[in-house]
Order: sequence, then structure tokens, then C-alpha cells
Amino acid sequence: TTYKIAAIPGDGIGVDITDAASQVLNTLAQAHGGFSFDFMTFDWSSKKYLERGWYMPEDGMAQLKKHDAIYFGAVGWPDVPDHISLWSLILPIRTSMNQYVNVRPTRILKSVTAPLAQLQKNRKDLDWVIIRENSEGEYAGQGGITHGHGPNAIATELAIFTRVGIERIMRFAFETAKLRPRKKLTMVTKSNAQRHGMVLWDKVFYEVAKEYEGVVEWDKMLVDAMTVRMVNKPESMDTIVATNLHADILSDLAAALAGSIGIAPSSNLDPTRSCPSMFEPIHGSAPDIAGKGIANPVGAFWSAAEMVRWLGKGDLDKTADQLMEAIENVSENGIRTRDMGGESSTKEVTDAVCKEIEAI
Ligand code: NAI
Ligand code: MG
Repeated sequence: TTYKIAAIPGDGIGVDITDAASQVLNTLAQAHGGFSFDFMTFDWSSKKYLERGWYMPEDGMAQLKKHDAIYFGAVGWPDVPDHISLWSLILPIRTSMNQYVNVRPTRILKSVTAPLAQLQKNRKDLDWVIIRENSEGEYAGQGGITHGHGPNAIATELAIFTRVGIERIMRFAFETAKLRPRKKLTMVTKSNAQRHGMVLWDKVFYEVAKEYEGVVEWDKMLVDAMTVRMVNKPESMDTIVATNLHADILSDLAAALAGSIGIAPSSNLDPTRSCPSMFEPIHGSAPDIAGKGIANPVGAFWSAAEMVRWLGKGDLDKTADQLMEAIENVSENGIRTRDMGGESSTKEVTDAVCKEIEAI
């Protein structure tokens, strides 16, 4: 099998880590022997936008649709307002490609230093999958501004919640929880203060939960209290489901608790498989370290492992596990970037992971 991958490196360190990920994926395919990748790179970035006035060509979505998966680096650069770059590239791809689930696994990889002493000691306590609603909610893009941006300006930012949208994310979350050892689902809202959409979210959750009685244990948290529980009682949770905005924030916290934002992966999935799914580390373009060759590629590699798992539909799980093992061995051997307390470059970590894949 040859998997056709659309690679969108984007901006800043997105370029470095996408290069690194394709090198590792090709090495993995060669070592395995049963499959290969055909990468097509799309130069859709903020730099190109400043030159030519657009991020994606008009038939951009149609081009992406011809691929089996999309690998995404990061988008955003100081010369372009962030809401323009995000809304020109990553957000339209997620919605156009029906990627209504964003999966963010978090655990403390072997030899990574956790910032909290308690977690450093009980590393297995932190083992979560955050399921983020990826198509509506607070990022629906609805709202507006009246009176310009002047002294009387009023802006609205409308969150949209549909029964269809809530129900499908809940089902996905319960199915995920069912397959995990702890078989636990924590549902996050802010339904005390937000009294319409969040209340519907609760209601639909209770309905779907009935179908999983005796199969998945569940509980419910308000998002503010959730941040405290993540820090104080990490072992009490497993699968977490939250809205687009809430899960965006909680997953950055989760990544920091697990060691570094540079490690965390994400999968934007179309569970119906009618469109290609998209895989990307959760971090951004990191302008502060761009061009220095020191970006941590681990989040990019972990995202690549998740892509392999998705493409293989169960047949490549072992191969994805081998990639994870290679990543962890390299970090254990002290080959780490600065954010993980090491001194190695992106290239050194990448070469070491490739070597390790060949050795496993
Ligand atoms: P960021 O994730 O780019 O950087 C936050 C901090 O973490 C920085 O100090 C950075 O150096 C560090 N960091 C991030 N990834 C790292 C890695 N792989 N290795 C080592 N250190 C790493 O978030 P920030 O600064 O808020 O955003 C920068 C730009 O990226 C903005 O334009 C933002 O809109 C965009 N962005 C894009 C995302 C995407 O494409 N999915 C996601 C998040 C931000
Ligand atoms: Mg984020």
C-alpha cells in the first residue's frame, strides 16, 4: 500500500518538524516493508500569503481530498494577525474535511521530566485522552462588531451547539473510553454560567451515557474545577470530553503537565472516513525559536505515529508502537531538545529516532 499524504508545513518551526516527520515516516515504512508514503508538499503559509494574498488556492480543499491523510506543521506568523492565518488555513480545513473530532493523548513519556514533583514520582497517574469537539462550539466563527472598534464598540462571539454535533462527539468519547484500561469518561462543561448550549451539552451527554451503563464509568466537571483536578488528582481521570475552546485550553495544560508543549500530538479525525484526517503537533509556529534548528520534533513524531495508526485501521498498530518506542528510547539515551532539558538539535533527535527505528 502507498499512502498519499498532503504535507502542509506552514510557518516557523512547522517547516522543520514536518521535514523531520516525513524523514521518520519514510524510515518507518522502509523498515516495515509493507507500505510506503507518497508525500505532496503544499506551500500554504503566512510568508506566501504576504506575497500573493492567499493561503489556499480556490481548489485547495479538492486537492487535499485526493489524499489519504493530511500532515500539518503550524500556521501563524507575527506579520499576519493570528485570527486571519488561523481562519485562512487550519480552521477551514478542519470543518471542510468533516474533522469533527480532535484527539489529544497525553502521558509522560519515558525519561521525560514532569514539572510537578508528585507527577514525576507517580508517572503512570497521568494517562489521558482528551477528546475535543472540533467543528462547532465557541469556534463557530459567528458574531460581529458594531460601531467599528471605537469607544462604543460591541462585539459578539457566538458559540453554536447542535444536537447532532454534541451527540456524535459524545459517542466518539464513550467509544474511546470503552477501549481504554480505566474505562472512565469525564465530561467537561461550564453549564452553571453558560445556560443554553452547555445545558444541551449536559442533556445529550446523559442520554448517550445511558447506552454505556455498566460499560463506561463517567463523571462531570466544570471546566474551572477541572484544571485543579488535572493538577491534583491526575489518576482519577482517563478519557476527557470537552468543547472546542475548553479542550483547546485543557490540552495545553495537559501537555505542560506531561513535560512540554513540544511533545503533545493531535489527530483531527473524520470518523466517517469520507475525507482525509489531519495530524499535527498541538504547538504553534514558535517564532521565538524558528530558524534555530532546536524545535522539539517529538510532538510531530507522536502525531505521525497516530497517523500511521489511523491509516492502518488496526493493521499498523504495532508499527506505530515501534515508532513510539524509538522516540522514548532516544529520549532515554539523553538525545533531547532544550525544552526537554537536553542540548540536541532537531536534526540530531530526528537522525537518532531513524537509527533507532532501524534497530528495533
Ligand atoms: P507556540 O506553541 O508556537 O509557542 C509557545 C511556546 O512554546 C514558545 O516559547 C515556543 O518556543 C515553545 N514551543 C512550542 N513548540 C515547541 C517545540 N516543538 N519545541 C520547543 N519549544 C516549543 O504558541 P504561541 O507562541 O502562542 O503561537 C505562535 C504562533 O503559532 C501564533 O501565530 C499562533 O496563532 C500559532 N499557533 C498555531 C497553531 C496551529 O497551527 N495549529 C496552534 C497554536 C498556535
Ligand atoms: Mg491550542
